[in-house]
Amino acid sequence: MKLVVTSVVDTAGGVREITFAAPDGAELPGFVPGSHLVVTAGERTNAYSVTSDGVAPTHYSISVLRVAEGNGGSRWMHDRVSIGDVIDVESPRSAFAPAARAGKHLFFAGGIGVTPIVSHLRAARRWGRDVQVLYVFREGHAAHIDDVVDLAGRDAELFIDRESFAIRLAQVLADQPVGTHMYACGPVGMIDTVVESAAALGWPQSRIHVERFGADALEAGDRFAVRLTESSATLDIPSGTSVLEALEDHGMSIPNRCRQGVCGECRLPLSGGTPVHRDLYLTDEEKRAGDAFMPCVSRASEGCTLEVPL
Ligand code: FES
Repeated sequence: MKLVVTSVVDTAGGVREITFAAPDGAELPGFVPGSHLVVTAGERTNAYSVTSDGVAPTHYSISVLRVAEGNGGSRWMHDRVSIGDVIDVESPRSAFAPAARAGKHLFFAGGIGVTPIVSHLRAARRWGRDVQVLYVFREGHAAHIDDVVDLAGRDAELFIDRESFAIRLAQVLADQPVGTHMYACGPVGMIDTVVESAAALGWPQSRIHVERFGADALEAGDRFAVRLTESSATLDIPSGTSVLEALEDHGMSIPNRCRQGVCGECRLPLSGGTPVHRDLYLTDEEKRAGDAFMPCVSRASEGCTLEVPL
């Protein structure tokens, strides 16, 4: 859909808040907390967490961190977008939704990873859910700090150094009521720390929800293989090469648009193997089902083989 930019505000540490609305001011499709807005910015398509309220919305707000060495999408959003511009936007998609049956929602946010947490906190406030949030950021770079404090109140704890965050993280993970679900969004290192700490304390995988940043921050990954079951070919996927690139090098044409794991165009069925999903397109449920993956960003662990019916 085409939406008009109604507000552009530069906030802490290189973060720009951009708000979109329908040209006629009409209500927009609602969305669940943690949803992404897929925005086409120049030649790039990127996904951004929606930070505004998802119930009967008349606008969508996103916060974009300027990433100098990224794919150019964030620079475009910072340098080229002005109030009144009409931008191509797809309806928000859920990829990091709250667990319906959770007794409590525990959030860990790192840096700009606070953005999906803000929409979770808004919904939690609206529905009276029990929350706790730990937010770590670099001093002077605290996006949405007022929202976090306002929405979570005394259940918010703020950190400007990783050491005190890590100490508190271990305490908090060890002291949760049964039924708590945990959500983490932030840099790869922070997510790994949170997930490893939770696993060491015996948290079941089903109560751990993470959102890694987009392809701007993706690592090169392990070497693995893809077996094409229809054509009986096996492709080697070295570190730093995507499955999509390997398929193209093999002479296959796979539809794609963003090559960032956000648009959904390159989705492929999967008939075997366990992928490491790194996209922002498939829902948690689809990722758990394990019968599809996005070859532009998703991979497998070292030495594994994914089977694709091509
Ligand atoms: S090309 Fe957009 S998700 Fe893969």
